Amino acid sequence: MLISWLHLINWIILLIVVLVALFSKRPTTSKVSMIIARICYLIALGTGLLLLGGAYAAAPVLTIIKVVAALLLIVVIELAFAWRLHHRLNKMWIYLTLFLLLLVGFMGIYLAGGYPF
Ligand code: HEM
Repeated sequence: MLISWLHLINWIILLIVVLVALFSKRPTTSKVSMIIARICYLIALGTGLLLLGGAYAAAPVLTIIKVVAALLLIVVIELAFAWRLHHRLNKMWIYLTLFLLLLVGFMGIYLAGGYPF
């Protein structure tokens, strides 16, 4: 239960820091948010691995899709950060990043059976 909450709260924090990293006009704020996002990946990985067994037993296919989508999300966010730093980030990539962030979160909540809500 605690792990599930940590995983969920970590998603909300990641959502906020990614938005700040991509949209803040202040370079320092943006860079600090990128560092916090990287800590969020580690927490997502750690807590996600602990949740894996139970979820896989209940819904193996969706669990695999969720984990692959989560790993893809990390790559997509990192590319968005890199392009932001080089002033080459376009709107399409921002939409893709936000779409995947929401998709992975809602897939996770569905997997958890709506829990802990
Ligand atoms: C940045 C990446 C990730 C995000 C944003 C994310 C987000 C979420 C969210 C919001 C939930 C719902 C939690 C709940 O309602 O309790 C969830 C569930 C889950 N996530 Fe992730 N996750 C990420 C990475 C991972 C990784 C890397 C793994 C596996 C190694 C993983 C495995 C799971 C599993 C197994 C569940 C279902 C938990 C259950 O059945 O209680 N997640 N995820």
